[in-house]
Amino acid sequence: MDVSLAGLSLAHGYEESGPASLPSSGRVEGGRYNGKRDPRGRPKAAPALAGRATRIGLILALILFVMIPNANAQLQRDSFAPTPPMGWNSWNKFACNVSEDLIKSVADAIATNGMKDAGYQYVVIDDCWQVSRDENGNIVADPQRFPSGIKALADYVHSKGLKFGLYSDAGTKTCAGRPGSQGHEYQDALQYARWGADYLKYDWCNTGTRNAEEAYATMSNALLATGRPIVLSICEWGKNKAWLWAKGIGNLWRTTGDISDHWSMQKKWGDGSCCQLGMVEIVDLQADLWAFSGPGHWNDPDMLEVGNGGMTTEEYRSHFSFWAMLAAPLIAGNDVRAMTPEIRNILTNKEVIAVNQDALGHQARRVSKNADQEIWSRPLSDGSRAVILFNRGAVTTEITVSWTQLAYPNHVTANVRDLWTHKDLGKFTGSFSSTVTSHGVVMVKVSP
Ligand code: GLA
Repeated sequence: MDVSLAGLSLAHGYEESGPASLPSSGRVEGGRYNGKRDPRGRPKAAPALAGRATRIGLILALILFVMIPNANAQLQRDSFAPTPPMGWNSWNKFACNVSEDLIKSVADAIATNGMKDAGYQYVVIDDCWQVSRDENGNIVADPQRFPSGIKALADYVHSKGLKFGLYSDAGTKTCAGRPGSQGHEYQDALQYARWGADYLKYDWCNTGTRNAEEAYATMSNALLATGRPIVLSICEWGKNKAWLWAKGIGNLWRTTGDISDHWSMQKKWGDGSCCQLGMVEIVDLQADLWAFSGPGHWNDPDMLEVGNGGMTTEEYRSHFSFWAMLAAPLIAGNDVRAMTPEIRNILTNKEVIAVNQDALGHQARRVSKNADQEIWSRPLSDGSRAVILFNRGAVTTEITVSWTQLAYPNHVTANVRDLWTHKDLGKFTGSFSSTVTSHGVVMVKVSP
């Protein structure tokens, strides 16, 4: 089945509304009716028109009064993440086993192992750093695991030239049963800002009948009110379709349930029911969401599992390529202090990361699906396309992408560069073919 790329454009189109209609007789100059040329010779139109102009003016002022604060809030919120956030989060590898020693050693590693240089910025502690609230309702960090306190830890992360992130929940308790932020939003936001947080992942457990848009808007406003730019990562797993309402509220929103470190659904839930989402099911769930993502507000298919041991190196390369194509936040979730060179090379591939961080911010679309063979394409700001030839099957296969699938005319000659081997493959007219290994991708940049 071919999915057409028709309508794919490099910039969002705007519908221009026609000029507001004015009476044929006379013009409004400097806000006043000039009183000339009334064909019916009735100059008394002037006061009527002036009244109408005043009414229109009042209505416009009212609309602007209502809209500008929202537009400003969105502009401000979007400015915190003009490209998808890059960083590291403790959950996928360490779950509740977090401590200041872990976070410091991870920050040391990111600052020196090439990740910071490749663009990774945020070091985020997920669930379980918090244990209680004090008599004034202030959130209290685990004193055993964080004996120096969160402020000292944030200072340490900042001293490495990195940014610092925390986790909380819109309900009464987090998913691991720690205190949530419901009813404490402004108090918590202020505390995070005082500590020097730059990023908040905000989960959705134990929220009862709470309305998601209200809950996330409340925390978003509380964070903005601190005056500190804090990225807001919405984590409601797509339950309330955050992509429909979260632009201007959060900078990224989860689109699915939790990823597991598997190629495809194999791992059962704790209660024996089937099954946690594998990497390819998560990719499939992104295919129809491309229109909702853009600079400042990104679809989040969950954090990376690259390097956690449940997939082959080839599969991890596919995983990372897809997250880059999908303009997904690149939040590593492995033990970055002890990586094999293969895993490090995947996470720090600058050509692939450049696709992810492209200023245009367009999420890739699946332009072709033929059984196990798929082609995904993403327009880049220089007019080129990043393209993935994807083989979901068990045997090596050849895949051909035609220029029309990329919204280029067939007669165009384009340079094709392999973003994993870092080689120019030559000039091609009309199409490009390559063999693709099982569960692998060939990821190229096609530049006319
Ligand atoms: C939820 C989130 C995960 C993680 C855990 C922590 O499951 O989706 O990413 O934050 O909670 O308890």
